[in-house]
Amino acid sequence: MVHLGPKRPPSRKGSMADVPRNLLDQIKAFEELFTVDTAKLNEIVDHFVSELKKGLSKEGGSIPMIPTFVMDWPTGKEKGAYLALDMGGTNLRVCEIILDGNRSFDTIQSKYHMPPELKVGDSEALWDYVAECMEAFIASYHGSIEEVEKLHLGFTFSYPCTQYAINHGILQRWTKGFDIEGVEGKDVVPMLAKAFEKRNLPITVTALINDTTGTLVASNYTDPSFKMGVIFGTGCNAAYYDTLGNIPKLEGKVSLPPDTPMAINTEWGAFDNEKVVLPRTKYDVQVDEESPRPGQQCFEKLISGLYLAEIFRLCVLDMHDCGLIFENLDVTAFRKPYCIDASFLAMIEMDPFENLSETEELFLTKFGLKTTEPERKLFRRLAELIGTRSARLSACGVAAIAKKTGMTEFHAGADGSVFNKYPFFRERGAEALSEIFNWPSKKQKDHPIKILPAEDGSGVGAALIAAMTLSRQERGEKVGFDVIPTD
Ligand code: BGC
Repeated sequence: MVHLGPKRPPSRKGSMADVPRNLLDQIKAFEELFTVDTAKLNEIVDHFVSELKKGLSKEGGSIPMIPTFVMDWPTGKEKGAYLALDMGGTNLRVCEIILDGNRSFDTIQSKYHMPPELKVGDSEALWDYVAECMEAFIASYHGSIEEVEKLHLGFTFSYPCTQYAINHGILQRWTKGFDIEGVEGKDVVPMLAKAFEKRNLPITVTALINDTTGTLVASNYTDPSFKMGVIFGTGCNAAYYDTLGNIPKLEGKVSLPPDTPMAINTEWGAFDNEKVVLPRTKYDVQVDEESPRPGQQCFEKLISGLYLAEIFRLCVLDMHDCGLIFENLDVTAFRKPYCIDASFLAMIEMDPFENLSETEELFLTKFGLKTTEPERKLFRRLAELIGTRSARLSACGVAAIAKKTGMTEFHAGADGSVFNKYPFFRERGAEALSEIFNWPSKKQKDHPIKILPAEDGSGVGAALIAAMTLSRQERGEKVGFDVIPTD
């Protein structure tokens, strides 16, 4: 993906003079489809707030609102060496983090490729591969396994997991294109522990965490003004701290005072699975229907990096199939699902040339497609519309959590490829937040709620949570339900 340039691309206003009428009409149609105006943003936020509450209720709703059993804010005094493992989409990252007890840390890390076939393969092969990478990591930094003492691991597993304790997590369902049989409905921790045992690795899974929870804790550790952790990457999600008294679904399961903090992994990607409020186009419907889990992660499918380019691709193909673009060209290569990713859209949006010659090059080299300048202008506008919709809808989630908790001034720590690399995502998100709250100043620096780059959640955050969990255990405090189910 390209990095944010210092300036906006040249204004596209007035540059449409040479675009023929039929393409201009098409642009207009896309503008109507993909624009989310302020009134709609507010409607979405209101519904979002009630769905967040519903997710915490005994009846539940479509947003899982998972209590994570991270029940302390970091103090900054956490100390010691911990392992962290992040099983994300593209890579597997293993780190050793040394917390120095003074809001700072040192990290060593290695990344291992996640072979795509493992994402749709068999469960045992997945866990064995993870254990193999951990073994390689320990061997390269500690020498012989035999000499290593017990290591505590914070395991970042960024999929919706029901947790009845911090070191258990029953996978509700795979997201982000993963589809491995035999894991959904099961606790992933014993599976990983078994793979460690097979290799005699002296590792205890002390905490199972979501990337958003890690991001929240890591960001708050380095700067206590951070009260929310959000990921806008391949998938999207957020975590924040609530209190036990606001979580009716834990009544009778965790007997602690109502003001006890509890980090909630919202899993907001599932917002509006019942299709009440989100502005879904026919392209979004198609992306959903052709995904491995139709009907799930409806919010995520409009926002996250995995789907943005796919929406774009379907729009482009539709125009071709209606005879509007790519006249007499063979689009076979472009018909392959997911053949482009969000970096493709980012490059189109960042093309610095008035005639969009970089975009021309992109279509030509990747797909052998010779585009006309008016076509490219249409593509640029389309990319801009899809990217803007993603950023504006993302802001609705942040605004909804702010409204639900009553937080009026705070920072949300954000991470993920879309947040870090998609052009203008931050600016567009900030603009939407400002519209939702009707802030008088349009300048981001004056906004009371800011979405800012986060501290490393799946490394430092995972290590901190492992450290916090060990301290709780040493103090004899709960890290799960009063009675932990034995299934
Ligand atoms: C997962 C979340 C995760 C998010 C960002 C979603 O698909 O369900 O658990 O936090 O992606 O990685």
